[in-house]
Amino acid sequence: MSEFPAADELLSIAVPVAREAAATARRMRAEAITDVETKSTRTDVVTAADRAVERQVVSSLRTIRPHDGVLGEEYGENTSEAGAVRWILDPIDGTVNYLYGLPAYAVSLAAEVDGVVQAGVVINAATGDEWTATRGGGAWRAGRRLRCSAQTDLAQVLLGTGFGYDAKRRAHQGAVLAQLITRVRDIRRIGVASLDLCSVGEGLLDAYYEKGLNPWDHAAGGLVAAEAGALVGGLEGAPPGLDMVVAAPPAIFGPLHDALVELDAAGGA
Ligand code: IPD
Ligand code: CA
Repeated sequence: MSEFPAADELLSIAVPVAREAAATARRMRAEAITDVETKSTRTDVVTAADRAVERQVVSSLRTIRPHDGVLGEEYGENTSEAGAVRWILDPIDGTVNYLYGLPAYAVSLAAEVDGVVQAGVVINAATGDEWTATRGGGAWRAGRRLRCSAQTDLAQVLLGTGFGYDAKRRAHQGAVLAQLITRVRDIRRIGVASLDLCSVGEGLLDAYYEKGLNPWDHAAGGLVAAEAGALVGGLEGAPPGLDMVVAAPPAIFGPLHDALVELDAAGGA
């Protein structure tokens, strides 16, 4: 028997913790948005809610599984014992939407064992919509098993993407997008990487790519997309990471990948 909990056990821990976190985010938004500060740039915001939600999740996980590690966006890494489970958390993905009241901001929580994500849940805190996945166990929403789109033609692809907070990075991302937009059906920028990836899993988007994502942006949503049949990776055989995350149905991954390489989408700042 494995010394690690099974993926479905990890998911059964993650889901109630993420639901409570989503409830806190929603409640704090209804009360008032406070302590709005900026991080990497003047447009990269963090609120009291981002921090409160992260503290709540860390404390819940500590109570349930005291030896695990947690990597969260706002407080970084809490050390774990060697070989233990590591939880990866974005307390509020889509903080700018949260600030403006756009109904798309999510709690994203994944459980990683030996560097491999085994379970993940993403909850749109504004709507309560919830996506889950376990490695080998499929991707699910509201009791329905998800399949990504069956699209085979890049020219018909509804393509999601996102932009970093740094102006130099955005200039390059914009230039890449200006070339790509003529080669696909259309572009969507939802503002929540985890929801973009879940949308690929559900076929609400055909495909998605973004440079500059951190593990908390793509760990849970990436598993949802992959378990729904999408290919999720970086460029030139790299794993999904800071340089690039691409999620696309098998027939689209290659052509989209090649276009992104041609346009140097992983380059720039
Ligand atoms: C951001 C969102 C956005 C993506 C950015 C992320 P945050 O996360 O996921 O869609 O384009 O790259 O940083 O800052 O709202 O947690
Ligand atoms: Ca965040």
